[in-house]
Amino acid sequence: MPEPQLRPAEEHDCDAVFDWANDPDTRAASFLRADIVKSDHIKWFKATLAGKLRQLFIILSAGQRAGVVRFDWLADADAPAGAGRCAEVGINLAPSHRGRRLSTPALHAATVVARDSGVGLLIAHIRPDNLSSVRAFESADYRLVDTVEIKGSHALRYELRLAEISV
Ligand SMILES: CC(C)(COP(=O)(O)OP(=O)(O)OC[C@H]1O[C@@H](n2cnc3c(N)ncnc32)[C@H](O)[C@@H]1OP(=O)(O)O)[C@@H](O)C(=O)NCCC(=O)NCCS
Repeated sequence: MPEPQLRPAEEHDCDAVFDWANDPDTRAASFLRADIVKSDHIKWFKATLAGKLRQLFIILSAGQRAGVVRFDWLADADAPAGAGRCAEVGINLAPSHRGRRLSTPALHAATVVARDSGVGLLIAHIRPDNLSSVRAFESADYRLVDTVEIKGSHALRYELRLAEISV
């Protein structure tokens, strides 16, 4: 079986996802840098599991939880014309699993999941100083298309058009 694997997040993943999200390096890589409050996270996680706004997948490596991939569904009005179903993707590896070259294969696995869900376009916004993330998304076939501002910070906008690649 290819490594890593993705499985849909479940209720019992709530605490692990919270801990990874509040890791200082994760906060520094985010566009909202404040710590996350546990009660807010629990509400967010419940809404997420309902699946309408976004979908979360747990990254498994050697059978262990190694991180999370998130797809935030974009409203049709926010999607570029002709792109089909569109999602913003985010990845957060557990601190214990960083630096092991897991991010690119995890993003490839996410691409397969997205394609199987009928997604036509994946978008990622990355802080320019987040070099490992830039490298991971570029290695996973995302292309830099723009520089934008998100919550007052510069962001690199990367896109992956699924019709243009074979996964
Ligand atoms: C971003 C993240 C997923 C990358 O995963 P990682 O385990 O740290 O990185 P990997 O070991 O998979 O390496 C990915 C690539 O970045 C490179 N890299 C790692 N650290 C780097 C650094 N400090 N500077 C430059 N390149 C770096 C690696 O060499 C590798 O490239 P290569 O395979 O071409 O050699 C992980 O650090 C993370 O979860 N960070 C916190 C959350 C976050 O930033 N998410 C992304 C938001 S857009």
